[in-house]
Amino acid sequence: MDVPVSQRDRAGLEFLGTLQGHAGGILQPAAGARYAELVPEPPADLAARRRSVREAIGDHGPWLFDRLLTRYVAEEIYVRAIPAAERARAEIEAWLDVPADAPGSLTLDPDLVAPSYFGEGFHLTTGGWDGHDLMGVVIHDLGYRYVLMPGGVGAARAGESLTDHRTQVARQAPRRDYRRILEAGCGNGRFAEVVSAEYPGAQYVGVELSATQLQYARARCVHGGHDWELVQAAAEATGLPDASVDLVAIFTLFHEVPPKSAREVVEEMFRVLEPGGDLVIGDIAPAERNHAFRAVVLDWETEHRGEPFMRSYLQLDLPSLLTDAGFTGVEAYGLGKGDYPWIVRGHKERA
Ligand SMILES: C[S@@+](CC[C@H](N)C(=O)[O-])C[C@H]1O[C@@H](n2cnc3c(N)ncnc32)[C@H](O)[C@@H]1O
Repeated sequence: MDVPVSQRDRAGLEFLGTLQGHAGGILQPAAGARYAELVPEPPADLAARRRSVREAIGDHGPWLFDRLLTRYVAEEIYVRAIPAAERARAEIEAWLDVPADAPGSLTLDPDLVAPSYFGEGFHLTTGGWDGHDLMGVVIHDLGYRYVLMPGGVGAARAGESLTDHRTQVARQAPRRDYRRILEAGCGNGRFAEVVSAEYPGAQYVGVELSATQLQYARARCVHGGHDWELVQAAAEATGLPDASVDLVAIFTLFHEVPPKSAREVVEEMFRVLEPGGDLVIGDIAPAERNHAFRAVVLDWETEHRGEPFMRSYLQLDLPSLLTDAGFTGVEAYGLGKGDYPWIVRGHKERA
């Protein structure tokens, strides 16, 4: 939605975007260049890479300031965006309040017990994804729009649009004629928009744990004239019938779950896919596909930027999880700079 934001609130958020852009666009490349100069042949192992970066540039000003600003911005987004959203509460609530009988559906589960790791509070969001009732708008229309899109976030660099990455991922499905498409970890519906645009003849189903993200997705669905089915459930146990979808498309869920859950999610996706169906995953490339310095930058988020499973994800053998679950024709490849987005895809054979 277009949140009415005062000049002062907007300037405060844009300032954070500028800081993040300076960190990611100027300081971090300078630190990377210094590291490459000092360590022309970096180690392959992630822990050794971490040590190597610390030893080589641990006292390098641009590196220290890059990390300081990145952490500061990540925390400060919510300090600034939540009050800005509160000031626009009436308009935001009016936008979220869509008619119950509009096309599509939202099924919330008041008895849902989310997996314990979900309470960790991703991305340093104050109180987690559901720490504030307007968190959908706080994250998307304020944080992402004014700070993270212009400044860069995670594997996406300053100015790169995650929407473009989503479109690239959605296009990696091998067919165009899907009937029913499931997205696990659908957030506030940004990938759903892309899936609907790319596969206009298919019914979209989104599964997500966070109620605030789903409420945002529901409003996005109604205002956009879609008929999405949105369900509050864990990707590990969706509650959907066996063999009920013919494509599963997932964008940036796997780096947010622990390895045991990653395996369970892949198995669950295999269960709900009908024979002949496909799975397409878009996320961050594993450590060995990133340059040593870049891998350490991503790994740093584990302890310092609310990505508790980034380290394990970077070392996860996702293609093997697909093969173990029964998928065939498993492929893994990168699409853009630094192999981001990274694609892992597989097929469920007809019996
Ligand atoms: C980085 S966001 C991506 C959202 C969406 N796919 C998109 O492209 O905008 C990851 C989402 O996965 C959700 N999530 C994390 N763990 C989950 C789980 N076990 N089951 C369902 N959703 C989960 C989070 O709440 C979050 O909304």
